[in-house]
Amino acid sequence: MIRPFAMLLLATLCRGAEDLVPDQRIGALPLVAKHPGDTPEMIALGRLLFFDPILSGTQKVACVSCHHPKYGWADGRATFLGLHGRGSGPKRQRESVTLFPSIHRNTPTVLNAAFNGIEFGKTYAAAKAPMFWDNRIEGLEAQVLEPIRSREEMLGEVLTEVEAIPEMLKRLRAVPEYLRLFDGEISEDKVVRAIAAYERTLITPETAFDRFMRGDKAAMSALQQQGMQAFQRAGCSLCHNGPMFSDFKLHAIAVTDGTTNRQEFRTPTLRELRHTSPYMHNGSLKTLSDVMLFYDRLMDQAAETLDGGDEGSLPPLDPLLRHVSLLPEDHTAILAFIQALSSDGFDTNMPVRVPSGLAVPGVDTVSD
Ligand code: HEC
Ligand code: HEC
Repeated sequence: MIRPFAMLLLATLCRGAEDLVPDQRIGALPLVAKHPGDTPEMIALGRLLFFDPILSGTQKVACVSCHHPKYGWADGRATFLGLHGRGSGPKRQRESVTLFPSIHRNTPTVLNAAFNGIEFGKTYAAAKAPMFWDNRIEGLEAQVLEPIRSREEMLGEVLTEVEAIPEMLKRLRAVPEYLRLFDGEISEDKVVRAIAAYERTLITPETAFDRFMRGDKAAMSALQQQGMQAFQRAGCSLCHNGPMFSDFKLHAIAVTDGTTNRQEFRTPTLRELRHTSPYMHNGSLKTLSDVMLFYDRLMDQAAETLDGGDEGSLPPLDPLLRHVSLLPEDHTAILAFIQALSSDGFDTNMPVRVPSGLAVPGVDTVSD
């Protein structure tokens, strides 16, 4: 454990360098995400909208096509497949050729997205919550419209981006059950507030780690406790910190992007990883053991690039990586610790029918 005075010393030693040592605290996640206006009616409406393909241009893709409870509310794929796919999860197949350039990103889970940007001791600013691998959107509400307007995710070629939302509203207004459920005007604002309200219920129950931090010292095994120490000592918490195990900042750690020139990506949460393989923004690593081997290689690369090597010939790396020291004997313990950050009891319920009467994507794949 790094004690406060040691942190202070470390911070003082590094002052002036470009990489001030960040707050490396880790700790429990709140049990509920509260927000004014999240009534049971709004949540129920948001849930139906999340699963209803009526929101998409082709009326075939819903949020659940990529954020499926069976795959930890992600899709189990390396990179997402939207409009041009058929089926669900890893089995989703490309069924037609895409005519426009696509950005190949791994689908993050929506579990706990309601806590994106959370920091210890600070009031949570929901409207500022960073969204996406590059933090380009702020707040769950603002995020909702992005996939609906995105040609490759939910829009398709039939409608233009400008037409996406008006057309969606027109369709919703033609469904009597939605007219009743919206209880007033069917507006863009209400669609986004309802879906965000539902997403705020998709938070995970306490993990072994949370119970341990709240005082149940038997909640984590001896190996997991050892892993927690190794995780902090190895410098993982320089970036994977706070209640979500993410600083929500962008860092270059040499995971290349196949489709853009971007080098820096947001530190992903380490919660629920048991359910969200494959890993990294491009889905290039299948298992958590692969991730550990990746960090082994990265340390060598960082030593070369950051300490006097030929900086020009290698991709830029975050200076914080200079402080990462993962030992081969840490792997097993850290992997065990990461397991203590996953839960099993999160909501996996799907509605079997939605007000539009359209088929709910992926509903047949749920076994319960
Ligand atoms: C075709 C697949 C697909 C569909 C459909 C889809 N998403 Fe996503 N979602 C993604 C991908 C991929 C990302 C990451 C994109 C990026 O970082 O550029 C993402 C990111 C997100 C995030 C941000 C998570 C984070 O931690 O940053 C949220 C929240 C989200 N989606 C909710 C939704 C909602 C709500 C819908 C329906 C209105 C939806 N998604 C539809 C694939 C999809
Ligand atoms: C300099 C900041 C930084 C440090 C230090 C760091 N990470 Fe990461 N980590 C990241 C970023 C950024 C990504 C995503 C990179 C990408 O996809 O381009 C990531 C991805 C991951 C992932 C994949 C998660 C997912 O959902 O895709 C795991 C697991 C992980 N890190 C564990 C660790 C461990 C264990 C350590 C310590 C040995 C560590 N990290 C140190 C920033 C960091």
